[in-house]
Amino acid sequence: MAEETPSEGKPVMREVTPLREALFDRLPDADGPCPYDECTGDGWVVDDATRTATPCRCRPQRLAAQRTKALTREIPERYRHISFESPEVEELATRAPAQVRAVRRYCEAVESQLDAGNGLGFHGDPGTGKTMLAYLISRAAMNAGKTVAVYSFPRLLAAIRDTYQDDFGDGYGAFLDRLIEVDLLQLDDLGAERPSDWASEQIFLLIDGRYEAKRSVVYTTNLPLPGGDSETASREESLSDRIGARVASRLSEISPPLPLFGTDQRTSLAPDLL
Ligand SMILES: Nc1ncnc2c1ncn2[C@@H]1O[C@H](COP(=O)(O)OP(=O)(O)OP(=O)(O)O)[C@@H](O)[C@H]1O
Ligand SMILES: [Mg+2]
Repeated sequence: MAEETPSEGKPVMREVTPLREALFDRLPDADGPCPYDECTGDGWVVDDATRTATPCRCRPQRLAAQRTKALTREIPERYRHISFESPEVEELATRAPAQVRAVRRYCEAVESQLDAGNGLGFHGDPGTGKTMLAYLISRAAMNAGKTVAVYSFPRLLAAIRDTYQDDFGDGYGAFLDRLIEVDLLQLDDLGAERPSDWASEQIFLLIDGRYEAKRSVVYTTNLPLPGGDSETASREESLSDRIGARVASRLSEISPPLPLFGTDQRTSLAPDLL
């Protein structure tokens, strides 16, 4: 709560809206124009007559967006048009009905799912729709006014490294804090790269932080289902081998795994050049 006494030329500022009650009907933007046309884009409505400033309706969403500003929270072009009515998802619903149903149910109750810290994990072959379904969840969360961060695992490792190098102290801790704080973390290609011991510890701190705070994680991975019973699965390296048993254990509780195996859909999407 910020408050200042009136002084010459300076408006009084009162911040009254709790951040957590912020709801936006579009992707939050820290610096964009006021979606309600009520302030000049700084989050304060100034009354010239009384020389006071009161928080604009858009201020909570600006603050929430500010907190997650350094995080990636946009849906990439390839997945932007995807909805439950898209032909791709309808097609997937014929080959993996239980999985699409589970995602639909999650999206329909996205606020309570996120409040409970529930997530989902998609395991399977390349090109089977895992990331597509994960983005359906992230979009539902964004539409419900929740803060979302989306990272592929290799990019997350690179971002952790960069932040650490950039600013030895604060920047690094602040980055991990923001990743822990965001309402939903979508981690794509989990375990696609083998993290160093140091990076593994950072991933543990991140997932453990979210686990303790009951914050949702949605992930995708090509690695086999935990405890998968197929012969190949038992011969392959598991998620637990790759990211560590303590991380995999927490994820298995908060992000129940869904299998998505089968034909690579990318091969049929490739343009016919002949
Ligand atoms: N059942 C489907 N029918 C048609 N197109 C699909 C289907 N499933 C996925 N796609 C499309 O195939 C492409 C690959 O899907 P997606 O990125 O979700 O795969 P993935 O399982 O995440 O693969 P990877 O493990 O390689 O990351 C996307 O363009 C997606 O829209
Ligand atoms: Mg993917």
